[in-house]
Amino acid sequence: MAVHDSNSSLPLTRRHFLQALGAVGGAGMMMSGLSALGIGIASAQDAPPALKGEGNGRSVVILGAGLAGLVAAYELGKKGYRCQVIEARQYAGGRVQTARAGFVLPQLGQADEVCDFDEGEYFNHGPWRIPYHHRSTLHYTREFGIPLEIFVNHNEAAFAYRDAAGPLSGKAVRQQEIIADMRGHTAEILAKHVDQDALDLPLTQEEREKFLEFLVGEGQLERSSLDYLGTGGRGYLREPSAGLNPGEASVPHGLSALLQSDLYGIVSSVSGFTQQKTMFQPIGGMDRIPRAFEKVLEEDITYGAQVTRLQQQDDRVLVDYRDRTTGESRQVEADYCLCTIPLSVLRGIESDFSPEFKGAMEAVSYTPTCKLALQMKSRFWEVEDHVYGGHSFTHSSETGNISYPSTGWQGRKGILQGAYNFGSNAAQFSALGKTQRIEKALSVGEKIHAGYRRDFETAFSTAWHLVPENLGGWASWSSEAREKSYPLLNEPQGRVLLAGEHLSYMTGWMAGAIESSWLQIEKLHELAMEAA
Ligand code: ALA
Repeated sequence: MAVHDSNSSLPLTRRHFLQALGAVGGAGMMMSGLSALGIGIASAQDAPPALKGEGNGRSVVILGAGLAGLVAAYELGKKGYRCQVIEARQYAGGRVQTARAGFVLPQLGQADEVCDFDEGEYFNHGPWRIPYHHRSTLHYTREFGIPLEIFVNHNEAAFAYRDAAGPLSGKAVRQQEIIADMRGHTAEILAKHVDQDALDLPLTQEEREKFLEFLVGEGQLERSSLDYLGTGGRGYLREPSAGLNPGEASVPHGLSALLQSDLYGIVSSVSGFTQQKTMFQPIGGMDRIPRAFEKVLEEDITYGAQVTRLQQQDDRVLVDYRDRTTGESRQVEADYCLCTIPLSVLRGIESDFSPEFKGAMEAVSYTPTCKLALQMKSRFWEVEDHVYGGHSFTHSSETGNISYPSTGWQGRKGILQGAYNFGSNAAQFSALGKTQRIEKALSVGEKIHAGYRRDFETAFSTAWHLVPENLGGWASWSSEAREKSYPLLNEPQGRVLLAGEHLSYMTGWMAGAIESSWLQIEKLHELAMEAA
């Protein structure tokens, strides 16, 4: 929707005003791009399926020890199935990884990325936040007793920066100022027009009065004049303190300045459903989740085993793999197979799936995405700028936003997420050398924080589309592919079923992988029970 441009000669008519209001209300913040990429709706399942009957030692080969594979091995194991998990990496978790000193991430066409953070510092370069309504993920953190802490996904003391036009261009502005002023100005305009018939409000006189009260509160308006004159909530020129200092009020930014600068675009009164204000992260790193599964499943996982072929006979599934350490080829036989390998990788593996099924696997694309973590030698964002967690919205789609750690508060050092980008921006960013990636992130960051370049020490860089076991951040379905190809991929193919975030409407989230796994093991169990 076109937003009213205060530079144009259009008068602020009712229609244009409401259009602009709609655009403001609808503008997602940092992650609005993600919805466009097909990410996320709600977690609909609370607990694994209650499987009736026993597996009685039937064998299941599970391809991939990411969350979908781990969940399947854990739940089917409880029901008496003999599960063997085949995992290409030397550790479980799939994309659920945490980089610490010594962690190595191979990426295609790049030197291995080696983490050289200080001891105790870490970064979740895959999944990093758990919305409170992802009950399936929280089911397992609760089950394994993994301590959680709040992930600060919303911090209005963080900044927004735009290189657009007007007096606010090129300045780091606290989000709370923009939010207070946009709401204040909007409420003022509406409040002053509530009584005008031109607005055509379908309200009784009494309802109009209540609506006016709402606007006065929402915009923090002067009750008598209905003017928006600012509010303490946007911050002060001089903060109130002791003795004779009541503080000095700040002056609101003008509506035109906010519109010209494009800063209004960060305002949305309701968070996106996946971008909740209450989110969690495991204390110590997201990989606490796969580590907990690994403890239970240790015996069942074969590491360093790269699947090379998947075949079925009437009564069994045959999986060939290459032992990455010795180079030897091996084969596993099982009654059933749950394949959680991302479709981006699976479609390159030899199989006897039907041409129709193979065609369906081709129908999905995978989102390129990069993250760049910066170790800083001081927590200047806390000490100098009083920003504790959350995200600063930069002007740069090349690097994306800056995110502050939600852990290690007031510690000595910290890890910032200095870049997080998607699609073609990520493809271009990953094509740069590491030094250039760091340089781009630093030049964006120093527009917001004076300490950014000064305190930079070292970086860890990830491009998920270049990670050989993933070849992409997450599955991204077009609506056409969802309709035509997706349902088939959810169906058993003989004795083989697929599972993973790619077979969910929560792509790019751990909950998608978990709930897909729950769904598919239920189907696998039904097949086994039917055959009994
Ligand atoms: N779920 C991913 C995120 O939170 C895409 O950034």
